[in-house]
Amino acid sequence: MRVISIVSGKGGVGKTTTVANLGIVLASKFKKKVIVIDCNITTPHLGLYMGIHQHPITLNNIIKDNSKVADAFYTHPSGVKVIPSSLSLKDLDGLDMLHLKSTIDKIKTEYPDTDYILLDCAPGFGREAIAGMRSSDEILYVTIPYFPVVVDIVKCVRVAEDLELRSIGLLVNMKRGGKHELTHSEIENITELPIVSSISFNHDVFKSLHNRIPISVAKPFCKVSKQIDALAAFITGENVPKDKFSDKVFGLFDKY
Ligand SMILES: Nc1ncnc2c1ncn2[C@@H]1O[C@H](COP(=O)(O)OP(=O)(O)O)[C@@H](O)[C@H]1O
Ligand SMILES: [Mg+2]
Repeated sequence: MRVISIVSGKGGVGKTTTVANLGIVLASKFKKKVIVIDCNITTPHLGLYMGIHQHPITLNNIIKDNSKVADAFYTHPSGVKVIPSSLSLKDLDGLDMLHLKSTIDKIKTEYPDTDYILLDCAPGFGREAIAGMRSSDEILYVTIPYFPVVVDIVKCVRVAEDLELRSIGLLVNMKRGGKHELTHSEIENITELPIVSSISFNHDVFKSLHNRIPISVAKPFCKVSKQIDALAAFITGENVPKDKFSDKVFGLFDKY
């Protein structure tokens, strides 16, 4: 079982999008048992991104009231088990994120056949973000190719080093190929991290959020979805399973 935190220095770079889509691809294409957990408790979005509208029991309840983990699972059609956080401000009362690690440990013990637990962390390196990081063993950094955002990653790396987390590397999201963007080698030089995934900017990602259907489900053959497949392949060390012929035919229009 691998527990991976997905982190960034700044918000809005694509962490939640990555957790949702990577989780879906790992479960549906790579046939892994996956749990995704919204550890961004102050501004939780993961449930919304995955089309989960009703979630009476959340991570907040597991941490605060010792609710059963099974009651906070919402199974996405891909097979991913989602543990959302509460959208209600009052559910933050008395919630101590210091207990997140013991909660994740409990989930690991109760669901030992899980292959991947992905933690959608809060941005930065405040108490909430660090609680997510220290509940994981490995870390995947997410940035966009702009100077200040990349510089913030350097601080995250220092924090992760102190926590002795294994680094998977850096995902560069929303690449448009503009001349004001940092190049891959500039980003690798600044962060001293290998870029393990590069994902293009595409309005369909935003559209899929609006429709509450992640891009890897809405348009599984588009460029961004293929890039997410490649990330899943890198993480698992396996090849992307071949698409069925019928899927390919029906997916022809995804490319455009
Ligand atoms: N590759 C992409 N192309 C276009 N828009 C994207 C892409 N990745 C994410 N987005 C959009 O950017 C916004 C922020 O993404 P989100 O995953 O919520 O970031 P974070 O979790 O880091 O705050 C969302 O509106 C999302 O739809
Ligand atoms: Mg987010």
